Amino acid sequence: MRAVLSLGGSVLAPELDPERVARYADAIERLVGEGCELGVVVGGGGAARDYIAAARELDANEVQLDQLGIDVTRVNARLLITALGPAVDPSPAHDYDEAADAVRRGDVSVMGGVTPGQTTDAVAAALAEYVDADLLVYATGADGIYDADPDADDGAEQFAELTPQELVDVIVPMSRDAGASAPVDLLAAKLIQRAGMRTVVLDGHDPTAVEEAVLYGDHTGTDVVPTGGEEPSYWAR
Ligand code: UTP
Repeated sequence: MRAVLSLGGSVLAPELDPERVARYADAIERLVGEGCELGVVVGGGGAARDYIAAARELDANEVQLDQLGIDVTRVNARLLITALGPAVDPSPAHDYDEAADAVRRGDVSVMGGVTPGQTTDAVAAALAEYVDADLLVYATGADGIYDADPDADDGAEQFAELTPQELVDVIVPMSRDAGASAPVDLLAAKLIQRAGMRTVVLDGHDPTAVEEAVLYGDHTGTDVVPTGGEEPSYWAR
């Protein structure tokens, strides 16, 4: 199977912990060992936010801030690459063509951001469509998609399953609230909807949980299932 894994920076590197990065690298290598072709998109996490906040105080414009954020996502991508074995493209892909070439020749491709005005959520969705992935997995700080912010609202309920259109409908109001952070942003949701991409959103703090989700479809997060889509055959245990 072919999968794209979006690894939030706050999941991979909330602080610089080599052991956490190594655990993720191990999970990725086990997936490759199981015959999985993988593209990985890494976010910027707290480090990106710190750089952006500092540059904002220095009156940087929004594109400059985005470029800074992109650079940090690439640093995180490079950090993960250092922990991976030989079957990895040795530098972060700069665009979808580079990433797709690596995935097609059987290497793991690791990339960060590509262009201002978006986040790595959208990069992962675009890459998944471009390489014709069977599955897109968002390893995030929240265990799936909720009807409200679970950190702010005790009554927030998780969606076990959504269609791509329902995902967009749930994310739209979240994107309007200043400061609100949906686990998958609106552009990514729209790309998922347009492509009809089978997607899982889950808590990425445990790399083993990500492995189980990719290999077997087992997880406690949210499944985004295109209408009429069949259960992927590679999930037969
Ligand atoms: P992230 O993808 O990490 O943003 O990119 P995020 O979703 O805010 O981070 P998490 O998920 O909470 O960890 C970091 C920043 O890099 C820029 C944006 O400014 C983004 O906020 N960026 C990233 C781009 O401009 N373009 C990209 O393609 C990717």
